[in-house]
Amino acid sequence: MARTLIKGGTVVTAVDTYAADVAIENGKITAIFGPGSGAFGKDATWDREIDATGKFIMPGGIDVHTHLDMPFGGTTSSDDFETGTRAAAHGGTTCLVDFAIQAKGEALRTGVDGWHAKAEGKAAIDYGFHLIMTDVNDATCKEMAEVVSEGITSFKLFMAYPGVLHVDDGQIFRAMQRAGELGALICMHAENGIPIDILVQQALDKGHTAPVYHALTRPQIAEAEGTFRAICLAEMAGTPVYIVHLSAERALEQVVEARDRGLPAYAETCPQYLFLSQDDLARPDFEGAKYVCTPPLRPASMQEDLWRGLKMNDLQVVATDHCPFCQKGQKELGKDNFAKIPNGMPGVETRMHLLWDGGVRAGRISMNRFVEITSTAPAKIFGLYPHKGTVAVGADADLVVWDGEKRHTLSEKTLHMRVDYSPYEGREVVGAPSHVLSRGNVIVENGNYLGKKGDGRFIKRGTFGL
Ligand code: URP
Ligand code: ZN
Ligand code: ZN
Repeated sequence: MARTLIKGGTVVTAVDTYAADVAIENGKITAIFGPGSGAFGKDATWDREIDATGKFIMPGGIDVHTHLDMPFGGTTSSDDFETGTRAAAHGGTTCLVDFAIQAKGEALRTGVDGWHAKAEGKAAIDYGFHLIMTDVNDATCKEMAEVVSEGITSFKLFMAYPGVLHVDDGQIFRAMQRAGELGALICMHAENGIPIDILVQQALDKGHTAPVYHALTRPQIAEAEGTFRAICLAEMAGTPVYIVHLSAERALEQVVEARDRGLPAYAETCPQYLFLSQDDLARPDFEGAKYVCTPPLRPASMQEDLWRGLKMNDLQVVATDHCPFCQKGQKELGKDNFAKIPNGMPGVETRMHLLWDGGVRAGRISMNRFVEITSTAPAKIFGLYPHKGTVAVGADADLVVWDGEKRHTLSEKTLHMRVDYSPYEGREVVGAPSHVLSRGNVIVENGNYLGKKGDGRFIKRGTFGL
């Protein structure tokens, strides 16, 4: 029963900032006490003491949007559960929720079992699953109850990708009603894929094949309309809804309007929409392909709208939508046709660095808000709280000791994701974890991985409780 003391640091939660020592026993936080006060008496002994002087003790990051080992766009995302979760740990993330997929025509059970097989024995950190539903019918609606009882308490539906992942409004409405009955949450890819596919074909017919046309054929109005429709359908079904990867000003307006009316509409954005822009997609020599994700990167002017949304709590979460594909051999599939570039970008390792540097240090958000959007709010929305997402007695000791002044340069050469580029190559950031603990075990120390493949456990999440 290892006993660890993190001492001399400043605890930061979503609501408090205070000097304290944190005691850990058997994977849980067992005491938080005044600095140096020596709770447990003078004779207390520790298997391990971590000196956090000058550093912050925060709940580990929770990334509720990843795609590990996912077949997509004629290939498979390049990080699997081993490499992706290890990279997440290096970046200070101690729990992720990945998207399992029900393939069209298959039972939900097959999708869930398939994802367990991908993850089991591989993960470095704890993980859960959402389930993407591509068929909503009597049988799958019935099956949703079994999936929820197994701790998979959220489902993603797509308004985009007709013929692949897309479901129609009737299916969305039925799934929302059923989710409401079961206490589950619907996550919506809210982008109207039907006109988008027409715009894509028209662009290709004109010989427009370069990566930037990915953005030019997916205008923000397609996302705004999808967001509005998702919120309306949820209101009719009497359920909450969570909009994933919100990228655009007009989509955000829909969420703001709904929340102002008191509707339980929630939304996440992702670092790529806060730090990158459509200009990156227009990089020459097919370099723009590195930046193809969906919804697409938007004009840089929209970044401040998203920051304002985060500040005002119209956006509650920053997740990554980590879905990496190598430039060589994978993104290249779309060399002559932007529509064939696999959609997705790497990000699971860099979320915390970017948000600390570009959010907290840049004065856009407080440290407490940083903790809230990277850990506490996703834990609450997705049924992980209070076991995860805070620093409190009884919670899992999933913690980061964060050095707010550590300066380093993001580069594919030093990052750990299994992908041959970084969208942030050469960007200097300040702030990094010195220690990352997963249920009390130090799994990363000063950039060295000390964890073990398979130590991460599947987490049965609770139902939607907000
Ligand atoms: O480009 C993206 N986002 N790829 C992953 C699939 C999705 O829609 O989240
Ligand atoms: Zn999506
Ligand atoms: Zn995604």
